[in-house]
Amino acid sequence: MTIRSFKGAAPKLGARAYVDDSAVVIGNVELGEDASIWPMCSIRGDVNSIHIGARSNIQDGSVIHVTHGYGELPDGKATRIGSDVTVGHKVMLHGCTVEDLCLIGMDSVILDGAIIRSKVLLGAGSLVPEGKDLEGGYLWLGRPAKKMRELTDKELQWFEYSAMHYVKLKNDYME
Ligand SMILES: CC(C)(COP(=O)(O)OP(=O)(O)OC[C@H]1O[C@@H](n2cnc3c(N)ncnc32)[C@H](O)[C@@H]1OP(=O)(O)O)[C@@H](O)C(=O)NCCC(=O)NCCS
Repeated sequence: MTIRSFKGAAPKLGARAYVDDSAVVIGNVELGEDASIWPMCSIRGDVNSIHIGARSNIQDGSVIHVTHGYGELPDGKATRIGSDVTVGHKVMLHGCTVEDLCLIGMDSVILDGAIIRSKVLLGAGSLVPEGKDLEGGYLWLGRPAKKMRELTDKELQWFEYSAMHYVKLKNDYME
């Protein structure tokens, strides 16, 4: 089954949220309205919670997980993704926060406690180490990700365009 409960916690899907039949969404996961989860994604809210905001899209083969609470980290690390976020193909998000209107490039990895501030463009193949805080309005790129340059107006407008493009695309799939 694609969408399933774990220890009594069932995923909550907002209005018109879309989960591809081949994706897996488990446990304490909340999807905002018009969010979309594409083929072969694994979104596993078993030992902590995952929130994905309105109109955000998680593209093919991406993995989202969390960290459980233990001794020095009693609350563990949840994963929070804001609204209008584009997560490219084969991205790994683990116990981190991505604020609104970001684009996470394909094949990137974001580790526990990292915060990606609103309007970050993270280049394809980047790695964000544990606890890093990436300033918004910039292109960040590399392993580890470094601040490269300010975003252009066109790039700043692209975040919303990309999110809306995926809303339209998932509407086509839902028809
Ligand atoms: C980084 C990115 C935004 C391009 O930024 P840019 O400032 O226009 O960079 P350019 O294309 O002019 O390339 C500048 C240099 O960076 C290199 N480069 C580009 N993207 C790179 C990446 N992801 N990782 C490492 N190097 C990269 C280029 O080869 C070039 O190197 P050179 O100067 O030695 O020739 C783009 O390549 C990218 O990664 N976009 C993400 C796309 C994506 O994953 N979308 C999600 C799926 S829909």
